[in-house]
Amino acid sequence: MNPIIKDNREWFQEWANEYDNTLGKVKRHHKLLDLVVKESGIKRNDRILDIGCGTGLLSLKFLNKADCSVTAIDSSAQMLEIFQEKIKKCNLTGKIHCALMSAEDMNFKPQQFDIIAATVALHHVKCKEPVIKNIYYCTKDGGRFVLGEMDIDTTGKPDDPKRLLRILNYLTREYALAMEDGGVQAFERMYDNGKKHILNDGEYCIGMSQWAKLCRDAGFKKTEVSPVKGFEWFKVLVATK
Ligand SMILES: C[S@@+](CC[C@H](N)C(=O)[O-])C[C@H]1O[C@@H](n2cnc3c(N)ncnc32)[C@H](O)[C@@H]1O
Repeated sequence: MNPIIKDNREWFQEWANEYDNTLGKVKRHHKLLDLVVKESGIKRNDRILDIGCGTGLLSLKFLNKADCSVTAIDSSAQMLEIFQEKIKKCNLTGKIHCALMSAEDMNFKPQQFDIIAATVALHHVKCKEPVIKNIYYCTKDGGRFVLGEMDIDTTGKPDDPKRLLRILNYLTREYALAMEDGGVQAFERMYDNGKKHILNDGEYCIGMSQWAKLCRDAGFKKTEVSPVKGFEWFKVLVATK
């Protein structure tokens, strides 16, 4: 591993305490989460799985929208700790179940969830195909997998100049938004994060058409992609089983 890049889990451990004051302050991020909730078509009593839930921003938006139950998993104990404090504070212990679990190790029952959602989490998974297959397996017939991600392919050699320019074009927009909405702390965090995208270390983004293909190959019948208005480099994919 490149010495300037810390292990991914260690990196999230450090970020956890700052998360809500950094990415959590960026309006673009909330627009992405709101679009995921809207496109999910959530209904009363739905069972939802939030993969890579972080501090729970998406799970809480689902619960705000409908009387549902949420299973929220994350590979970072520190992120979950912060989410669990919020759950207690909002008296939601009966509605949300949190588990320390990686996307790669999910062992849910077949057809357990009406909606499986993940926002800016699954690009951290290097080997995506088995994870998407498992998501298909755990989704009810007629249920949906809703993915909120940046639409950028960062695969390839770190020193490929074309790839570098593509990533920098995306990162500069994100840095500007972080500075505008979250100030210096958010900018510094996103700037630090940018190196991981460039060096292909813990950040493995692919384009939305690649995500859609993985979903169709896993068996999902239909895939639809919607851009986040005003921030079109972020998109929401809905895959229906
Ligand atoms: C950028 S945060 C997104 C959090 C939340 N979904 C949101 O939209 O605010 C990415 C989260 O994914 C988690 N994560 C990274 N790799 C993961 C993996 N392989 N399995 C589960 N969670 C993972 C991190 O710990 C972190 O909480």
